[in-house]
Formats: sequence, structure tokens, C-alpha cells
Amino acid sequence: MTKTRLYSGMQPSAESLQIGNYIGALLPWKSLQQTHDAFFSIVDLHAITVAQDPTALRENTRRTAAQYIAAGIDPAASTLYVQSHVAAHAQLAWVLNTITGYGEASRMTQFKDKSARHGADATTVGLFAYPTLMAADILLYQTSLVPVGEDQRQHVELTRDLAARFNARFGDTFTIPEVAIQKETAKIYDLQNPLSKMSKSAESHAGVIWLLEDSAVTRKKIMRAVTDTDGGVVFDRENKPGVANLLTIYSVLAERSVQSLEDEYAGRGYGDLKKGLAEVVTSTFDPIRARVQELLDDPAELDRLLAVNAAHAAEVANETLATVYDRVGFLQPR
Ligand code: TRP
Repeated sequence: MTKTRLYSGMQPSAESLQIGNYIGALLPWKSLQQTHDAFFSIVDLHAITVAQDPTALRENTRRTAAQYIAAGIDPAASTLYVQSHVAAHAQLAWVLNTITGYGEASRMTQFKDKSARHGADATTVGLFAYPTLMAADILLYQTSLVPVGEDQRQHVELTRDLAARFNARFGDTFTIPEVAIQKETAKIYDLQNPLSKMSKSAESHAGVIWLLEDSAVTRKKIMRAVTDTDGGVVFDRENKPGVANLLTIYSVLAERSVQSLEDEYAGRGYGDLKKGLAEVVTSTFDPIRARVQELLDDPAELDRLLAVNAAHAAEVANETLATVYDRVGFLQPR
């Protein structure tokens, strides 16, 4: 039986992933790759919809790839590649732009948020077209399943609309993808501000755990995490968001139930809980960090891996693109 095709992407916009990416994306992708025909792209075309430093972008693209591989995305089992290595993404995105309504694109809430945040001068046509490029990513591969966070749901819905519209107008061409929303239970919050999502763009990094930071720094951040004055190690998201967040991270990384952690730490106070958590986090990330370093020490080998996977991706993508070009009536070049 052939495996179901799955597609997801991540931006190469930071030097290091943070623990929220690890728990929210990497761990689920790692298990999905065993049961699905998985494509994961490092979306550098998307990254430049807001200004990037060229040197940093190139470096972060390699670092992102290295972290995904080190954390368990197997480049022999999954197709892990760099989006700009496959020209068909930009080519299909253009065609999709021509069947997307201006009003339809204007309703994308992420665009509204980002354009408000960056201001009129930094809001580019590229940022506006971000969702149609994402639709091209997904549709090129005849994807059935798209695992993403809740914030990307609207983009996948637009993708479904565009696929159905193209199919109706030009004949059956694209698979209509389903969205798979990552579990809310795996949502990780800022250690200093446990009511807001842990984010690489947080104002202060005191509440953000980076995969590649020194383990002594991670330990310190965990020991200083905001809790409450109640003192009980109990999972109560509403009244004890800090402790609930620590328990969530602990539970996912140690693969233990929250209940068993509550039992273990009953009557022992937050210091012990934090020490235990710091141990689990650093023993998870230490080996990954070492592997990342190995991969980055041999950039030629890393680039070769990415090239092999991009060649495979291009093969699949170009077949879809050729059908699209034919259906819309482009003259074939001779
Ligand atoms: N926009 C996605 C994000 O920011 C990343 C992404 C780009 C993506 N292309 C994709 C996710 C295709 C799923 C499928 O998280």
C-alpha cells in the first residue's frame, strides 16, 4: 500500500529552534514520517517576505536543516529540502495568484496582523502573496495531509479553495488536502509570561528555551520560571499557568503522564519540580546539540543531503507543474 502524502514547512528565520518548535512540530513530524510519505521544506522563499539579512538567512537555513535532522527527521525516510531549490514553487505560486481574489487574500488574518505590525512601508506584495505560495507548496506534491499549528489553518483552507477552483475551471489537477491541527495540549508558553505562547520573537529571551543554547543557560531559565505562591504541583491551566506549562514540557519530553508527575512531586515544592525538568530538558537537548555541531562542521555533506532531497522533490513538483502549465494553455517550449 502506498503511504499518504504529507507536507509541512518551517521558516529558517532563527539561529536556533526553541522548545515550542521541538514539541509542537518536530516531535509530531518525527512520528508522522514513519507512517506517511513526508515532505518537509525549509521555506526560505517565505522567509524573505519580511526583510532578512542575506548572510544570516543562508546560515540559518543550514542550521534549521541540521536541527531537524539531529532531532530525528530522517533525510533518507522523509524529503527534507530547501524550498528555493525547487523552482516550481515560485512558478505555481504565480499561477495561483491569478485565480486568487484580492478580497480573499485581504481576509487572511496573518497578513492583517503582520502588515499592521510591520507598517505600510514594510508590507510588500510578497507578504500579501505569502498564502498563495504556501498553497503552491502543498498542491505541487498532491498532498493529502498538512500538519500545522492553529495559526496556519486559514492558509490551508485557502489552499483547499484554490485547489477546488482550479480543478473546476481547468479539470481535475490537484488533490484537495486535509489540515491536521497540532494538539492544543502540546502548546508551550513563555517561562516568564505563561499566558503567552513561547515565541522566538518574544521581547525578552528569559522565558524562551533554545535548542542550541548552553545547558547551563537552559537550567537557569527553568529555575527562574514564573510559577505562583500556592506551592502545589498540580496541573491547573487557568489558575496555575506557570506550573501547568512546566508540567506539560516535562510530561512530553519524559513521555510520562501529568498525573504521574503530580504524584511524584506532591508536597515537594517547585524547586524540585524545576530541577527534575531541567534534567529532562538538558538530557534531551545535549545529544541533539552535539549532532547539530557535527552536521554543521561538514557543510558540504549537509548541502549534498539537501541537494539529493531537492532533486527528489523537484521530480514530483515538476510533474504537477507541467500539468498545470498545460491546462492553463501555455505553449510548450521546444
Ligand atoms: N507558513 C507556515 C508557518 O509559518 C510554514 C509553511 C510554508 C508551511 N509552507 C507550508 C506549512 C506548507 C505547511 C505547508 O508555519
